[in-house]
Parts: sequence; C-alpha cells; structure tokens
Amino acid sequence: MAPASAPRRISERKPRERRVKPIRLALLGCGTVGEGVVRLMRRNAAMFERRLGAPLELAGVADRSLKPIPELGLDKSLIVRDGAALVERPDVDIVIELFGGHEPARTLILKALAAGKDVVTANKALLAENSAEIFGAAAKAGLAVGFEASVGGGVPIIRTLREALAGDRQRAVYGIVNGTCNSILSMMTESGCEFADALREAQRAGLAEADPTLDIEGHDAAHKLCLLVTLAFGVRLEPRDVYTEGISRLTLADIKYARELGYVVKLLAIAKDDDGAIEARVHPTMVPARHLLAGVSGAYNAIYIHGEALGASMYFGLGAGQMPTATAVMADVLETARHRVAGARGAGAHALGYPMPHLKRARVKPMDDVVCEYYLRFMARDQPGVLGAIASILGRNGISIVSVLQQGRGVETTVPVIMRTHEARERNLKRALKAIGRLRMVAGDPAFIRIEERL
Ligand code: HSE
Repeated sequence: MAPASAPRRISERKPRERRVKPIRLALLGCGTVGEGVVRLMRRNAAMFERRLGAPLELAGVADRSLKPIPELGLDKSLIVRDGAALVERPDVDIVIELFGGHEPARTLILKALAAGKDVVTANKALLAENSAEIFGAAAKAGLAVGFEASVGGGVPIIRTLREALAGDRQRAVYGIVNGTCNSILSMMTESGCEFADALREAQRAGLAEADPTLDIEGHDAAHKLCLLVTLAFGVRLEPRDVYTEGISRLTLADIKYARELGYVVKLLAIAKDDDGAIEARVHPTMVPARHLLAGVSGAYNAIYIHGEALGASMYFGLGAGQMPTATAVMADVLETARHRVAGARGAGAHALGYPMPHLKRARVKPMDDVVCEYYLRFMARDQPGVLGAIASILGRNGISIVSVLQQGRGVETTVPVIMRTHEARERNLKRALKAIGRLRMVAGDPAFIRIEERL
C-alpha cells in the first residue's frame, strides 16, 4: 500500500492583496461642473473602483479663485495655481479641462497630450475651432480626448453617434442643443412675454449668463453642430461654415402666429447630408406642434437623428447644469481610465469616429441654395391690391403660397399679413422679400421664419 502522502499545509494567511495603481486625475477649473465632478468622485468612489478595478484619485486642482471645500475632501494641498506644471506632473494620468474658452485651455490640453496624459474636456468652442490640431495631436500620441460633456450636457449623444449608430448612414440631425435659448423660447411661448423679459427672467433663474451673446446669437449651438456633423457625416466643419442666426430678434407676435398655424418656434441646429454637400445651419425654426421636438421645453436638450436604416431616433435630457454635465465628464474619465488599467494604447485614434487622416473638410452647401418652407409676416396697409402685389412678387421669384392670414382691419395703420409658403430656395426668398420691403404699402422689413415640416 502506498504510504499516505503528508497532508498539505494550507496557509491560514489571506493571499497578499495586490495594490492596484490608482488612476490619478488633474482638474483644470473647479467652477460649477468641476465641483460636480469632485462630488461624483467622492459619492461614487467605491462604485468607480469596482467598475475599473483601480481607484480614482484627484492629484490636483488648478483654480486660482478656489477655496478649500472640506466636505468635498478637497483640501488645500490639492489646490495649485500653476495648471501648466500640474498637467505635466508624472503622477497625473488624465487631465480634465473645465476652464472653457480658448486660452489657456488650448495650450494646456496640447501640453497634457505631449506629456502623455489623456484628456477629458467639455470645451465645445475650442474643439469646434481646433479639431484638427487637438484630435490630431491626440491621435499621434495614441491618447484619448473625451468630449461627451461638450454637446447636450448629460445627454450621451457623442458616444451614441460614434458607437451606437456607427452601423448606419446618417441623413439628418436636428438638435435643440442650447438650454438658454430653449428656456427663453419656452417662456415666450408659455407665458406670453417678449424676448427681453424672458432673457431677464432666465438670467435671474441662473439659466442665462450675464453676457448671453454666445448662447442667444446661436454661436454655442453652432459649435456643438460642428462636432455633431463630424460624428454623423465623417467630415470636418468649422463654426464659420455654419449659417448662424440667434433668437434675439424674434418677436412674441411671430411666436403667437406660429402657434395659430400649428407650430412651435425652436432654435434648431440642423445638419443634412445632401449627397455629399453638407447643409449646416442654426436658426429659429418652426416645428409642427405635434412633433416630439416641439414638446422639449425649458433647459432640456434633444437631438433627433434620421438614419438611413434606423429611421428616426431621439435623445433627450438636461443639456447643462452641474450634475448632468459632470456625469458626462465622469463617463469619459471612466472609459479612458479603463483603457489605462487594461494597458491599451491608441484609444484616441478614433475619438471623432474616424481616423484623423480620413476626416476631410466638409463640402458645405451655401445657405442661398438651401430649400425649405417659410413663414412670412408683412406689416401692410389694408387696402385693395396689397395682397396681389405681394403675391405677384413671390410668384415672380418662383415662391408658391400655401396659406394667407390677415389679422385685424386698419385703413390708416398697417396690419399683419401672415403667409406660409411651399418649399422655396433661400436665394429666391431673400430676393422676393427685398422687393416686397420696397413696396409703399408695406412698412418695415418683412419678418420670416424657416419651417421644418418633414423632420
Ligand atoms: N450655455 C449652454 C446652454 C450650456 O445654454 O445650453 C453649455 O453648453
């Protein structure tokens, strides 16, 4: 009989836990969104560690005006004045840029990439104007630039377009991507106030900046549209390629007439791929009241996309604010950190959904060639022949009328004449309005709003 082998000694000691190297973050700017990021890091620390298999740690915060916030665990030792030194520190893995604006954000992002750090940013203006430079530097270095927070705040539209819809060819994108404008337009529509009063109320409620120009003149939406166009159509667009018209000249009267005709006025960022010619425009738009986009009110954002195979889909949520935007920043941090933990390289090569060398400048369709339906308002004398004169100018320019509505009666004064047209080319419409504006019986410049009937 073979001798029984000696029982093996089972160690009572637990195997030594391998300390996983933490992923360390540098935060540039700790304003509203930055504070939200710090709050999420604290609140969800254990969950993030479980998701990653490594803890996330804050290595430093660059913010000149920041006071220590003890309840956030943000003590004095973390706060630094010199962002440039912070982004190059060897103990930093990922740089979160929340300064906004151009400089020093651009220089610090490029410095961070040159030093081998991945970057997460919410800076749509910077990315829209410098996409080739920033994404090019990231791709060359094999590093990531996460920018989910730059469009739609908490609405995960960047990943959706880049990943979830990548199997389809996109035809059109319609976005309510500026919460300030959407809040103002909702107030005008629902409370019946004029633009200036709605803007003041939005500023009082913290929904509009003290200087609201970037938002109300449509520039913020145009920046966001540039990024959406690249992700949707695989071409690069610069803000100057986007026809941009804000909401500051909209009158309550036109919003009310639009309602009577069955429409709601929204600031839409619209992009269409017309056989390789890219239509990109931001302007007040009449949307049928029954359409999903018409029901998106207040600070909410929504992006409605037409895919060739999928058809229509819509993505909705809060487009700004501390915690919604911070969730988008953290999603990028986690994705980037996951790559770091796995030792993967090259995460940034396709940040825009295509290898950088494949992203050519878009062939942009001139605004004059855009075709849509129009709402028109003329202030005209209520006398025989007025309608005929207006209709005949429209007719001579190839513009066909769908309906006419005259409000009130006034022989001495002028009355509003409202018209809706069939599809017409922008060039023809502008030419016709110029001629109508010269008629003696028409006062002031005609008003017009573009209609998206078939979105
Ligand atoms: N100012 C933007 C808005 C939020 O009103 O939607 C940041 O993109």
